[in-house]
Amino acid sequence: MAEKILVADDEKHIAEGLQMLLADEGYEVDTATDGTAAWKLAQDGEYGVVLADLRMPEVDGLELFSRMRKAGIASEMIIITGEGSVESAKEAMRQGAYDYLEKPLKIDRLKELIPKALEKFQVKQANRQLEQRLSNLTRFGDLIGQSEEMKSIYGMIEAAAPTGASIMIVGESGTGKELVARAIHDKSNRAKGPFIAINCAAFPREILENELFGHEKGAFTGAINEKQGCFELADGGTLFLDEVAEMEPDIQVKFLRALEQRSFRRLGGKKEISVDIRVVSATNKHINKAIDEGKLREDLFHRLAVIPLFLPPLRDRRGDVRLLAESFLRRFAEENGKKHLKSFAPEALEFINAYRWPGNVRELKNALERAVIFARGEQITLTDLRAHELIMSEDREIRIPVGTSLQQVERTLVLKTFSFTEGDHHRAATMLGIEEEELRNRLNMLVAGEVAVAS
Ligand SMILES: Nc1ncnc2c1ncn2[C@@H]1O[C@H](COP(=O)(O)OP(=O)(O)OP(=O)(O)O)[C@@H](O)[C@H]1O
Ligand SMILES: [Mg+2]
Repeated sequence: MAEKILVADDEKHIAEGLQMLLADEGYEVDTATDGTAAWKLAQDGEYGVVLADLRMPEVDGLELFSRMRKAGIASEMIIITGEGSVESAKEAMRQGAYDYLEKPLKIDRLKELIPKALEKFQVKQANRQLEQRLSNLTRFGDLIGQSEEMKSIYGMIEAAAPTGASIMIVGESGTGKELVARAIHDKSNRAKGPFIAINCAAFPREILENELFGHEKGAFTGAINEKQGCFELADGGTLFLDEVAEMEPDIQVKFLRALEQRSFRRLGGKKEISVDIRVVSATNKHINKAIDEGKLREDLFHRLAVIPLFLPPLRDRRGDVRLLAESFLRRFAEENGKKHLKSFAPEALEFINAYRWPGNVRELKNALERAVIFARGEQITLTDLRAHELIMSEDREIRIPVGTSLQQVERTLVLKTFSFTEGDHHRAATMLGIEEEELRNRLNMLVAGEVAVAS
């Protein structure tokens, strides 16, 4: 591809002269004889270099340069100046213009400058593209992650989404199964259709059936109106069946039949309703075990898991932990009006990296949301992070073995009370009969690990 150059000079003979000369050198050259026309061209042209006269009516060379910079146009700029305006040209260079040429133009210098400026442009472009590619790899839809494991998941989603095949996502709780399901929908040719999610564990048997298939008016006592189920609602889109192994076996049979025939009947209905849906399902169960135990019908499993997708737990993709922590920090700092909170104290980062995160991304996300709320300084400290751990503790009682020191009892009581009030300093202080300030001091000492906690 020829390297493109734009020449802007209100002296037409100069513009044309330069065009001829540069075309002879093998460049593709456009010209403009005023700044407005030059700006129009520069906006969508992929010019490596823009050569512009400093003095032009309306939009002069400097203005053109500043507009280009503001619009993020990367072309290198060479200013052409007449006598007496070298200072302005130098100022433009300080602001990032590549160089300047004085009139009368010296051809040798021009021939020397152009390839250098073009080279700089190309290097910048290449870096930009690389950066873009890298940043693309750290995210995929709403999924964040740059580990090899996640990149391979992105690749599988990309490949599988448009096919319409049933996909079963298998992974521990909090690994992002629902986000993956949404990404599959968004990357499929059903993206404009509905995405309907239903959690099979959330409903008792009869209600789940009703939620899935809907009912006709009068199908059962209380069925005053007809109701569309998820099957119908998802028509033309994606049905996401969460916790699919929790579905009762007889509903599994019905569900399988509906999938295979692509049609079903509402409860109490006679009419077959045809639908066009894509099913994505998810489970955090060991599939083989669920099948062996008779929880998940094998025929349904094969129908749902045409493409199985295994989401690894966070502890097996350590490379993502820091990236996730940083992006959650940014997000929650913004949401909580704490934009000054930008980083982690070294011990906090150490903790984040070393902790196992049994609740996976969800636990990390919650920990950060709370830490941001607790944080008072410019950095997230270990104290801020551990505060969440204490609060999460479910144990509301203290067992005190004989032989425990009073000091230990006191500390434990403080922690458990704080935990009981879900981190409400005021309430906890009131319950303990101490000042809030006093409570804060004690908590800070405790979570900083200065003292051991009895349990
Ligand atoms: N890779 C990721 N990038 C950003 N956020 C994520 C990622 N994975 C999970 N999350 C966030 O973590 C939380 C849990 O994710 P999600 O609900 O998809 O998990 P899940 O695997 O469906 O869990 P469960 O089995 O408990 O339903 C959500 O708030 C989600 O936005
Ligand atoms: Mg889920």
